[in-house]
Amino acid sequence: MPSRVRDSLVRVLSVTRIAPRVTELSLKFPPGVIMSPGQFLQIETGVTFLRRPISVAGFDEGTCTVRIIVQDAGRGSHAISRLAPGDGIKAMGPLGNPFPMDEITDGLRDGRRIWLVGGGIGIAPLIFIADSVRSKGLVIDSFAGFRDEESVWGLRELEKCGNVTASIGGFVTDSLDRAMETALPDSVMACGPRPMLRALQAICAERGIPGKVSLEERMGCGIGACLVCSCGVWTDGGRDYRRVCRDGPVFDMAEAII
Ligand SMILES: Cc1cc2nc3c(=O)[nH]c(=O)nc-3n(C[C@H](O)[C@H](O)[C@H](O)COP(=O)(O)OP(=O)(O)OC[C@H]3O[C@@H](n4cnc5c(N)ncnc54)[C@H](O)[C@@H]3O)c2cc1C
Ligand code: FES
Repeated sequence: MPSRVRDSLVRVLSVTRIAPRVTELSLKFPPGVIMSPGQFLQIETGVTFLRRPISVAGFDEGTCTVRIIVQDAGRGSHAISRLAPGDGIKAMGPLGNPFPMDEITDGLRDGRRIWLVGGGIGIAPLIFIADSVRSKGLVIDSFAGFRDEESVWGLRELEKCGNVTASIGGFVTDSLDRAMETALPDSVMACGPRPMLRALQAICAERGIPGKVSLEERMGCGIGACLVCSCGVWTDGGRDYRRVCRDGPVFDMAEAII
């Protein structure tokens, strides 16, 4: 079970530039936290009033080390990318509901075909899923999309965990569509920009494939109190609203209004 939310002063252990605008940081947390793929941290930036939500891209329980991957997209993410080893920052988390890891590992063990589909920085939480299943001796295939050659990162890591189809410049959903002509997945786990998730949702709905999507939304508090992150969902009673930070960020693909 994920541990309860707490705000910690964490120490930056390492900082590595993995693409021109993408930086990987490893953060040392105090003992006692457990983090799962799909969960995120609200990280103080030092330059913005509001913290910024950043996905957990890896977690080592033995050392309480958390890995994050940050794309320099504005003031807050730029400041986080510029942190140096030894710096201290405040990070609240883990927050949000994770991907269904038991379902994923049991499914793969039973020979079910589960595909990861990610675009851009949305690949970060999927790397955590891939690493977790690999540590259990399982393989998982991925589809990863990048805007251009300069933005490519993480492919080698995904390749250690299964087959990877990379789309550079094109749409990841086009390669997914082609792959589905020869084999259909039993389910997909996805994270990425809204247009990609919307296209994925349409492709999967057409073929009756279930899945989970992790949504990105601007956030205020990150803990369910301010409603800044509200998004639409379909329920039995029609359209309703959910908080991405508290009810998500991982939602059933069929219920999310993307
Ligand atoms: C659950 C969750 C997990 C995330 N995980 C990561 C991660 O692992 N790595 C990472 O680099 N980023 C991640 N993000 C996105 C990250 O939080 C935003 O890029 C960041 O908040 C932008 O802040 P900024 O101060 O750098 O940019 P700002 O100056 O505030 O904005 C720069 C641009 O980014 C857009 N933007 C800002 N926030 C978001 C957002 N939440 N979604 C979409 N567009 C946004 C703005 O509209 C603007 O165009 C995640 C977001 C969420 C909600
Ligand atoms: S960010 Fe405040 S309710 Fe989600």
